[in-house]
Amino acid sequence: MIALSVNGKPFTVEAEGDTPLLWVLRDYLEMTGTKFGCGMALCGACTVHMDGKPIRSCITPLSAAVGRRITTIEHIGTFKVGRALQDAWVAESVPQCGYCQSGQLMSATALLSANKNPTDAQIDAAMSGNICRCATYPRIRSAIKRAAKKLA
Ligand code: FES
Ligand code: FES
Repeated sequence: MIALSVNGKPFTVEAEGDTPLLWVLRDYLEMTGTKFGCGMALCGACTVHMDGKPIRSCITPLSAAVGRRITTIEHIGTFKVGRALQDAWVAESVPQCGYCQSGQLMSATALLSANKNPTDAQIDAAMSGNICRCATYPRIRSAIKRAAKKLA
């Protein structure tokens, strides 16, 4: 039995410590907003926050999440920055197929939480680990700028 904190709530799961956090979120806690893409930290689809920092949950063992604050896409809208980004995502019609977008929003939220007015280069650097096969990158950049302006 392993105890962890996800989206402000305590959970206990019957899983081995080396179980990927992504499996725990999706299969044990039924939080399926976080997606599986590559399983090798190469695509960013599985991005969640650990103590406010973006991590790849596909390669993070459950044991590493113990005692840490895990936040997923299901909860990010309860934060001012996350809400502003979600609104901007809608306003800019960012998603195409949508598969990568949870991870994109998690990375964007971490970026704007740390840097209120990022340059294009800073946006590209912060978002470079999040791959979008539908190539929504220009709209992602516009949405981040729109949210930054709204939060200013
Ligand atoms: S599924 Fe984790 S980075 Fe691709
Ligand atoms: S919207 Fe389709 S992969 Fe990004």
